[in-house]
Amino acid sequence: MVQYRSSTERYGDWHSLEAPNSRTTVCRKAHAGCARLVPGLRILGLRVLGFRTFSVYPTLGCFLQMQRSSDRSPFMVDSGRSGVLSKPLPQATDSSYEVIAYQPEFKQQVLELQTQLWSPSLELNRAYFDWKYERNPYLSTPLIYLALHQGKVVGMRGFSGLRWEAGSPPQILTGLYADDMVIDRDHRKRGLMRLIMDAAFKDLALLGCEYVFNLSAGPVTFVSSLSMGWQSPGSMQPMRWRSWRLAGSTGMHRIATHFPALSRRAGRVLTAKLREDARALAATDPIQVRSRLRNNSSISFAVEPRVDDMSALVNRIGSDGRIRHVRDHCYLGWRFQNPLSRYGFLFYQKEGLEGYLVLQEYTSEFADRTALNIVDWEGTSVQALSQLLEAARQAAGHRKLLITWGASFSKDKLELLAKSGFQLIEGEPGTDCHQPALLVRSLTQDLPASEWQFAGRRLVDMAEWDLRMLYSMCG
Ligand SMILES: CC(C)(COP(=O)(O)OP(=O)(O)OC[C@H]1O[C@@H](n2cnc3c(N)ncnc32)[C@H](O)[C@@H]1OP(=O)(O)O)[C@@H](O)C(=O)NCCC(=O)NCCS
Repeated sequence: MVQYRSSTERYGDWHSLEAPNSRTTVCRKAHAGCARLVPGLRILGLRVLGFRTFSVYPTLGCFLQMQRSSDRSPFMVDSGRSGVLSKPLPQATDSSYEVIAYQPEFKQQVLELQTQLWSPSLELNRAYFDWKYERNPYLSTPLIYLALHQGKVVGMRGFSGLRWEAGSPPQILTGLYADDMVIDRDHRKRGLMRLIMDAAFKDLALLGCEYVFNLSAGPVTFVSSLSMGWQSPGSMQPMRWRSWRLAGSTGMHRIATHFPALSRRAGRVLTAKLREDARALAATDPIQVRSRLRNNSSISFAVEPRVDDMSALVNRIGSDGRIRHVRDHCYLGWRFQNPLSRYGFLFYQKEGLEGYLVLQEYTSEFADRTALNIVDWEGTSVQALSQLLEAARQAAGHRKLLITWGASFSKDKLELLAKSGFQLIEGEPGTDCHQPALLVRSLTQDLPASEWQFAGRRLVDMAEWDLRMLYSMCG
């Protein structure tokens, strides 16, 4: 028997505010939807919600966030929406489950459930939750759907805010990133994933959200997403580079695991060695990186971002109009605080900042500690890009595998990567050699995929996207 709780849940609302130097053209439905629910208040020219109990204020010195100042959330679903989660869905389960919208009293249980996905550390999970769902620049309150069994949280899917821009002058789309799907071990293989997603899609559509996105689905989520109406324009085409020495020790490790007699001892030693060596970024010595680059004075390494300079550079370089994430001060300032990652920044400086490359490694014990990802890479010239890439290889040294996503890179960047020895990683999304891929889904019923568009660009066409690993939760 499946039950649904409704009406008094707190809902986050995704909303679009006028972005500097850009034109807000979408999210009309969101505003219209909200205005339908609680008419009355106009904020920054947008009719949003009807209570005077919340204000617009700058948080963390960078973004606008809406906060309620009474018990009644401005995003609370009113009685007119009580049917949101009340229709029985086709999926049936043996025991008694209900799907509800997240409420703060479930936070501890969510953190515990996420010890099956994010990390074994409750402290780290709390930091990640706070960063991603409570301090998200584009959503005022966590937007998460929970499966409960006898009052206990046994499954979840979260939606965090993102902001795409495309076209010239850029148009803005504030959307949702579906992530963090986890079902408790004792409740798997009962169709709970579909149950949660069906409820979420219905609810999000009523909230006025047009599209949901995912850039980091694992193989099971990827395949099951396709069966739930998502479309995948294509793979992110991950590419890798590793030094000859690292290739040698990884090869030996692989051989050792194929010979049971060898594998236990040799495998343990080699795994320990690879893990120990892998702590590259935290231990990266800026002076050593520079000296390996023969004291190239244009390049520097830092563990802190230069958010203002980086966003100014992104603006200066401009865009070819493809869909990409807004990289303003607000976004970058928030993005590099991700507690499940550690970042390192390579800067190429002449008169001013002429290029940067962002390296990232994972902090969770569950994650691959041997990988160092190039999550963003910008430069005003091929020379800047080339020297930054060389510096990244030096930072990775013999200890880390360098990975980046090639799907959206320009010809110049792809040539530099090929010249530096980067190779495409073989595989296909959703297979044994799963590759990260873009997933998109419209929440408008019966809208054919060919009409899923933003700024006149087809969302299901990979050529319309300018994607970086930074935009995904892989980075
Ligand atoms: C991935 C996970 C959420 C799946 O949960 P689940 O309860 O088994 O999912 P469901 O029973 O609802 O099945 C969902 C779909 O995946 C398929 N599926 C589930 N496990 C699978 C597996 N190991 N291999 C292939 N397909 C699988 C089901 O057949 C079903 O397909 P359908 O939608 O076409 O009917 C769960 O295994 C989990 O929490 N894993 C740990 C965290 C994780 O890896 N999360 C994914 C992050 S991207």
